[in-house]
Amino acid sequence: MVAAAHFFSSVAAAAVLLSFFSWSGSVASLPIRLKKEAAHSTDQEDLCVHKWYTQPVDHFNYGEDSYVEFQHKYAMVDKYWGGPSSPIFAYLEGEDAMSPDVCSETSLVDAYASRFRPLFIFIEHRYYGDSVPFGSRDAAFSNTSTLGFFGAAQAVQDAAELILSLRQNLSAHYSPVIVAGGSYAGSKNPILIIKLNPPA
Ligand SMILES: *[C@@H]1O[C@H](CO)[C@@H](O)[C@H](O)[C@H]1NC(C)=O
Ligand SMILES: *[C@@H]1O[C@H](CO)[C@@H](O)[C@H](O)[C@H]1NC(C)=O
Repeated sequence: MVAAAHFFSSVAAAAVLLSFFSWSGSVASLPIRLKKEAAHSTDQEDLCVHKWYTQPVDHFNYGEDSYVEFQHKYAMVDKYWGGPSSPIFAYLEGEDAMSPDVCSETSLVDAYASRFRPLFIFIEHRYYGDSVPFGSRDAAFSNTSTLGFFGAAQAVQDAAELILSLRQNLSAHYSPVIVAGGSYAGSKNPILIIKLNPPA
């Protein structure tokens, strides 16, 4: 029964995702608008909590450098969350620092808070903003070995592990996860869905 519910929520998440995003460039019709002109310190901004999650610099190998860790930044709005049976809306940031006003800059919270009562999270991309490994931007970008961990595959895995950890911490193991993001960030979403719902 639980497995069936889980399967159903996975399918539902994927279906909603696919209606938001497709590979055919329908991103322009997304119901999520970027509100670049958003005023600072709106109500939502006050609700936006910035958090950190410890990530390994390398999710895939067992080399010496692979065990280096860094602090990965994410933001959360939990005020509207309906609890463990309600969804988690995860917004993936692209190739830029995450804005301090991230929770109000997308219309995500406005548009979906009352309808779905989700937990909203916004995930910064590694090597941008405050989510930079090796202690500093200069060090992270200094040579091919430090740059070797800068890539989409690692970034998707960051998001997957962060979301799974959050689900575990909230005992929300079966919360459907709806992922959003535009352009490059959005193109990572189908891969993220598969990672969150590995085939049995
Ligand atoms: C690359 O840069 C890192 C961080 O600055 C440094 O620790 C490491 O020794 C460098 N590696 C090479 C091969 O230059
Ligand atoms: C979940 O809890 C652990 C233990 O407190 C913490 O280290 C980790 O950062 C939390 N996960 C997230 C995504 O915040």
